[in-house]
Amino acid sequence: MGRDHRDLDELWARVVATPATDREGRRPRFAAFRTGLLAHIAEEEEHLFPVLDETDPALRKLAARLLDEHREIRGILDQIDRAFSSGSGEIEALGLELVNVLGEHNAREEGFVYPWLDGHLSADQVRDVQRRLDRGERE
Ligand SMILES: [Fe+2]
Ligand SMILES: [Fe+2]
Repeated sequence: MGRDHRDLDELWARVVATPATDREGRRPRFAAFRTGLLAHIAEEEEHLFPVLDETDPALRKLAARLLDEHREIRGILDQIDRAFSSGSGEIEALGLELVNVLGEHNAREEGFVYPWLDGHLSADQVRDVQRRLDRGERE
């Protein structure tokens, strides 16, 4: 999942590398990033966070916070998408907001959640999660 973050960072870098004046060039790159990020957070919500929740009730608060952040991230992605449609000039500011929220969120996941899951899941559970993730990626 950490590799997903890296791949998504790269997709975002391609959006930013396209000049803001080249709206037609930027839009499909943003669409690719948005699709990839939405798929990533959907996988986490479906397969990873429930495990975090079930395994240790003390982690429910953390899971709730990560879900809140996902909601916020989806909201900003929608706002950017709307800004592309309406031609409003908010894209730069929204992009910065997204990078801030996503940066903190990903650091929380990579610094704690992913290692915790690695350490606390049985080999069977890891295989099960991996199987479902692999299946999800092919769908
Ligand atoms: Fe996430
Ligand atoms: Fe993530």
